Parts: sequence; C-alpha cells; structure tokens
Amino acid sequence: MNDFGLDIWSNDNFIIKDGEVLVNYKSTPSLLSITNKIRAKGVRGPIILRFPHLIKKQIKDLYSCFNFAIKENSYRGDFKAVFPLKVNQLPNVVNAVTREGAEFNYGLEAGSKAELILAMGKSISGSQITVNGFKDKEMITLAFIAAHSGHNITVTIEGLGELRTIIAVAKESNLEVPNIGIRVRLHSAGSGTWAKSAGMDAKFGLTATEILEAVKLLRKESLLEKFSMVHFHIGSQMEDIAPIKRALREAGNIYAELKMLGADALSNINIGGGLAVTYEQDKEAKLHNYSIEEFSSSVVFLLGEIMDAKGVSHPDIFTESGRFIVASHALLITPVLELFTQDYHESLLNLKEKNPPLVHELEELYRQLTPKNCIEYLHDALDHIESLLTLFDLGYIDLQDRSNAEILVHNIIKKSLKLTSKINTNELKQLQVNLQERYLINASIFQSLPDYWGLKQHFPIIPLHHLQKKAVRAATIWDITCDSDGEIAFDSNRPLYLHDINLEEEEYFLGFFNIGAYQEVLGMDHNLFTHPSEYTININENSYTISNEVESKSTIDILYNIGYKESELLDKLKTDLLKSTFITEKEKSDTLSKLETFIYQNGYLRTTS
Ligand SMILES: Cc1ncc(COP(=O)(O)O)c(C=O)c1O
Repeated sequence: MNDFGLDIWSNDNFIIKDGEVLVNYKSTPSLLSITNKIRAKGVRGPIILRFPHLIKKQIKDLYSCFNFAIKENSYRGDFKAVFPLKVNQLPNVVNAVTREGAEFNYGLEAGSKAELILAMGKSISGSQITVNGFKDKEMITLAFIAAHSGHNITVTIEGLGELRTIIAVAKESNLEVPNIGIRVRLHSAGSGTWAKSAGMDAKFGLTATEILEAVKLLRKESLLEKFSMVHFHIGSQMEDIAPIKRALREAGNIYAELKMLGADALSNINIGGGLAVTYEQDKEAKLHNYSIEEFSSSVVFLLGEIMDAKGVSHPDIFTESGRFIVASHALLITPVLELFTQDYHESLLNLKEKNPPLVHELEELYRQLTPKNCIEYLHDALDHIESLLTLFDLGYIDLQDRSNAEILVHNIIKKSLKLTSKINTNELKQLQVNLQERYLINASIFQSLPDYWGLKQHFPIIPLHHLQKKAVRAATIWDITCDSDGEIAFDSNRPLYLHDINLEEEEYFLGFFNIGAYQEVLGMDHNLFTHPSEYTININENSYTISNEVESKSTIDILYNIGYKESELLDKLKTDLLKSTFITEKEKSDTLSKLETFIYQNGYLRTTS
C-alpha cells in the first residue's frame, strides 16, 4: 500500500509528488511545508488544517449533479439544500459554508436551540432554514421569531405534541407562523453504521395514522397553508443505494397522497442527509456502492415518476447532506513522538556465557537462517518462545534470558519475512501482528477521532513525507492519553504500514484525513486534551495564506472551563512553591516562571523533534 489508497479516498484532493503529499489545487503546496511553517512559530502538538476550497468543491458538486439530473429528466421542481449544523458548528466551518454557498442560496439546518440561534445569526439572507429534532415551546417560539424576522424557515414536527405546541404559540402571539414540515416514519430502513434513523421503531417521525391526524388538525386550525414539506432521513453514511430508493418510493407516495388529500401548500420533499464519504484506504475494503451522480439521478427520476403516476406536480427537492459537504475539508496532522519496538533491536541482545539450551538454539536458528530453511526455522522459533515463556513463569529462566529470547524471535521473524515470500497468508498476517511497530502520536483519539473510538470508523492515514520509500512496518498507532482505548490497533484485514524511521535523525508527520464531519464537535476532552490548534489554508495560483488561527486551549483555560477558579489554583501553586526551603531565591523565581509558562501553554506534549 505505497500510495496509502489515495486513489480510493482522496477524490483527487491530494496527490503524492517527490515523496510528499501535496494539496491538488492551484499552487499545490505540500502539507509538510504548511506544517513546518506553522511549527516554525513554536506551535507544537497536533494541528487541524482547513481547506475552504474543498467545501466549495462539494457544495458545487451537490448542486451541479442535482441540477443536471433535473434537466436530464425534465423534472419540474427545483433543487434546494441546507447544511446541517450538527455536522460541524465551529465558526471557521460555518463561515466557510455560508460564504462558499452564497451563490447557491445554500441554507442551514438546526437540531437544537443553540443551533437555531446560530442558523438565525449566520444564514445567508433569503436562504432556507430547516429545524429538526425534538422541540419545546421555547424552541418553537424561537422558530416563530425567526419567521417574523424574515427568515425562510420550516419547522419539521417529530410528533403530534409539537404540532399542538405550534398551534398554541400561533394562537397566543401575533408572530409570523413558520412553514411546517412533517417528518414521516418510513418502514424502509437504511444501511450501514448509522442506519437507525428510519424504520418503524426509529426515534423520529410520524406514522401514517399520525400524519393523517396532523393534516386534520392543521385543517381545523386553518394552518394547512403553512404545511409545505415532507421530510425523511434514513441515516448517515448510507452504504447502499437500494434502501435509499425504497425510502424515496415510500416518502414520494406519502407526499403525493397528501397532495391528493388537499395539502395544497405542500411543495417540498426533504430527503435528509446520508450521502456517504469514502473513508477506506484498503483496496479490499467494501465501499459505498453509488456515486453522487447516481444518487441525484435516482432521486430526481423516482420522484418524477411517482408524481407523474399520481398526477401530482413535481415538488422541490431538498437535501440536508452534511458529511458529504465538510468531511474532506479538514485533516489532523500530528508528529510521531516515539516508536516502541526499537527495544527489540539486535544490538540490545545480551547473551550470557552459558545460556539456557532453548535460548542457545534460538541464537543458532537466527545465525543460520537461509531462504531455503527460514520457514522451518521460523516455526521452530515460534515453538521455542512459547516454551521459554512458560519456563519464565515457572521460575526456570531469568529476565535477561527472557529478553534475549524475545529479541531473537523478533529478529528471526523479521529476517524470515525478508528472505521468503512463501509464508502462507494467514500466518503472514499473524506474524505482522507480532512484528508491529507502535507509533506514538501527539494527539488524542478521543478528542480528534471519536468515531474511531466509539464505532471503529476508519479514517485515511498517510505520512506527509518519506513517501519515495516503501512503508514496510505493520503499524499500531498509540495516542498520548492515559487510556488503552487510545489506540488504532494494527488490523490485518485492513493493514496499515508505516515507515521505519529513526526519530533522532528525522521527523515523521502523519495526516488523518476526512475528519471535517462530526469529529471536531463529538470529540471528548478525555485527560483534558482539547481541540487541537486549527488553521485555515487559502490556496492561490502562486502560494497560500494561513489564517483564522484558533489556538488549542491553554492548561489553565481547560481547567477554568470545567469550573476551577484560575486565581485559586495559581495562588495555591505559587504559595506551595515559595514556601519550600530547599531551593535558592533565584531557583524559586526561575521555577515560578517555568510553572507559568507551562500553565499558559496547551496540554499536548512539546516534542523537541
Ligand atoms: C435530520 C438529519 N438531516 C441531516 C443529517 C446529516 O446527515 P449526513 O451528515 O449523513 O449527511 C442528519 C444526521 O444524522 C439528520 O439527522
């Protein structure tokens, strides 16, 4: 896997040239040069780079594919889209989304009060706002305020209770009533890790009976002219197009039936999000089975067909795709701090004058390995190490013997793999596990890749440099949290190989790609490692600019954020230090200034490499 599957996951956003990863846009800067420029200012620890041109690319792609499908199918509705804020609410993302989406009138979707306030504050004037999720009276009143303030807002009801609240607020106030949508509960379920959003036992949506009840209520309260949207969402990262088509047929028929029942203002069908992103980098891995072109053409064709069959006018098509829009725009870059299997280096072998017979035999096997005998000798060595470990447990060999045995076996495996390619695949996989190198990264998996921690969602990983050399070390990645869950273990079904690097002589930076959706806001401050420092990179024809720096929180700010008083903590630390009697006044003042420096820096490790 020399190219790290770039052709599978990168969508031509990145290329490899002269051993480095370059951004495939205009002046094609190398990620390493950007990283070095940032680190030259003294920044240490992980960094997040944002590329707004990749957000623009995705928005354009979404609109052009749907508009093309509309033209091709002579569809008579429009295409509209909103960005779901839950996917990434950070200011430099939302600002980029609204700026790049302005020419398309791209709107925002909110799923909570805070997101609704953000949507009201940040949406492009005249663009759509949709509101999903559970709502109380306050949130519904906020939607009325938004409508009254001139926003083009649609509140999707998740249950009849919410409709009753809308009716109550409409009666109590003179505020403009927002447009009303109904989320329908489909019997068609989705596919993939996040497929729980549809199906009859899903958390959201109204059943057929409830939909009919809602229409009755709307009619009775003279609010039917506000009922404008049918909405569904079958789950994020949809892997298979077949369930999407089934859901479209079901929702399309519900829409058409409602029109035939007299819901004249109904003019939009909102198909939610779910467009998948490629996270896999292994050639054997299963990928989602459709493209954006196939997706848009299926949606447009199916809806047109259903409406034509029922004699209903074509609705405008709404999407709420989030992952597809922002996943690719951000990547995490982290230095490797340490490699952990150098302890098995042959130079550490410390054989005695007289070694236990099995250790002696291992040494003989190692010295006499040839391409012809290596498979047989390897099997002998694996057998011997089992016996030697048992002998250690029973107290018959000492720690030095054990260390020598482990070093010898490790090196026998390594040398055998070099000498022959005839080892059977299953055994090879197991040997790679034995031989793996542990790469300690200056980052937290809980903070930066929470979906790996929680769901084992893979993210593409690639070294930023050294790519002219073949990466041969089976790699496990360890993060710096004090938690054994903070690792991406070597998986022989999806093997990651990294380079054999001497970190005393050279640096090694890894990039974790496609992390722009969900990861940044789901990230946890486990061990109090917070969001890494982030930078926006705007690339032009000749160079690039680095802007919008948001530094990772300092240690004292982290503690303040969880409720500690800065002054109380600092006073205590200072008093304890100053009252000590074992150091001179000069040492006290030097130590104090050191302490202050540490407190006002972020908590990631400050590697000297
Ligand atoms: C109602 C709704 N719309 C849109 C989305 C965004 O989905 P995605 O990021 O997969 O496009 C979600 C996410 O789960 C959602 O619940």
